[in-house]
Amino acid sequence: MSGSAHPVPMTARRAGPLTGEAHVPGDKSISHRALILGALAVGETRVTGLLEGQDVLDTAAAMRAFGAEVVREESGVWSVHGVGVGGFAEPASVIDCGNSGTGVRLIMGAMATSPVTATFTGDASLNGRPMGRVTDPLALFGARAYGRAGGRLPMTIVGAADPVPVRYMVPVPSAQVKSAVLLAGLNAPGQTVVIEREATRDHSERMLAGFGATLRVEDAPEGRVITLTGQPELRPQTIIVPRDPSSAAFPVCVALIVEGSDVLVPNIGLNPTRAGLFTTLREMGADLTYENPREEGGEPVADLRARFSSALKGIEVPPARAASMIDEYPVLSVVAAFAEGPTVMRGVKELRVKESDRIEAMAEGLRAAGVTVETGEDWWIVHGRGGAVPGGATVASRLDHRIAMSFLVMGLATERPMTVDDASPIVTSFPIFEGLMAGLGATLTRDTSGRA
Ligand code: S3P
Repeated sequence: MSGSAHPVPMTARRAGPLTGEAHVPGDKSISHRALILGALAVGETRVTGLLEGQDVLDTAAAMRAFGAEVVREESGVWSVHGVGVGGFAEPASVIDCGNSGTGVRLIMGAMATSPVTATFTGDASLNGRPMGRVTDPLALFGARAYGRAGGRLPMTIVGAADPVPVRYMVPVPSAQVKSAVLLAGLNAPGQTVVIEREATRDHSERMLAGFGATLRVEDAPEGRVITLTGQPELRPQTIIVPRDPSSAAFPVCVALIVEGSDVLVPNIGLNPTRAGLFTTLREMGADLTYENPREEGGEPVADLRARFSSALKGIEVPPARAASMIDEYPVLSVVAAFAEGPTVMRGVKELRVKESDRIEAMAEGLRAAGVTVETGEDWWIVHGRGGAVPGGATVASRLDHRIAMSFLVMGLATERPMTVDDASPIVTSFPIFEGLMAGLGATLTRDTSGRA
């Protein structure tokens, strides 16, 4: 059972080398934030390169429900007329965030300090994920949350009419939690302080500063301390969304494991809080280069060139790097299966509360494909086969786009094909995945028989 209303089984089989350019879509994290901050600024924010994946489209619909005018002008070009900090209207119906943890958690933060009530829901994956990590700090501002057992969606948030600023130490390494607290702090008087022990992606901080919020970031012995001055007047912006390094990971990784491949992935955002995978791959001996490095829209950007490497070796991934590559462990584990020796991944408990339990989902599929995997609560080890990997399995994608894409990448290099029971979740982050991979020479086929 895939959990989708209309599952799309898909099979990847080995063909020739993959070559050419892969133009991946805009960054998902930055796209959500552009729409939400645009909705909180009075006047017109223009966004180009927006990811038009389902997760982001759901956030656009939510911003309309809170009173902003959000218009798609042409492919990737969007205009947002915001209502101002504290100006959210009360939505007339339930906000459906689909599959998106980032969408729901950031929007909860953004509305929690306004005198409005909103009810949130999502798909079976999102409704199984923990929201207490966000509603706990939002309660400190004065917001109230009423959800299902275990802090799950559907959930109603009653925004604080008289919010107070907070000082909050984020207990798990999570940019979503940090960002929810910062967005809530926007409409609280005085200074809201968020402390994170380990640096997570800093797009919210960068973009808040760009919109004119007063924000100070300091490295202190307790961690990274972010101080936000509440109730600013946000100035509308022009935002150029860089292409998503988390999506670039798929064409990069497939090029490394399919013999003879040579793929260029242009214009990829290489914010250091996101680029951990590429450092790791290089440590594994990958032929991966950064060409034409530059800065665009306040973010470092480069063209990535990945070529097949026959000499990949397993490594121990430094746990301190986990936050900067948290979404890339599934596809890293696929590369690890082809490398020589074990790849050890520790300090990755957060993988268990993503769109699926990503350690279990990958371990199950990798084992079915003939790879030895060991797992623990916050670690896993993939024993690389140093070349040939049997494959020949059908695996469950568990409503998780990155699980589906990881196993399809794998099937392009295994001896026998790999099938995912449902590729439909891929539209959440990478709606052009199938066509883009086909353009590189990949053989992906949909099973049209209707059997999952
Ligand atoms: C994201 C943060 C990460 C990441 C997610 C996007 C964001 O989640 O996994 O895909 O845009 O802030 P956590 O904050 O739960 O680590």
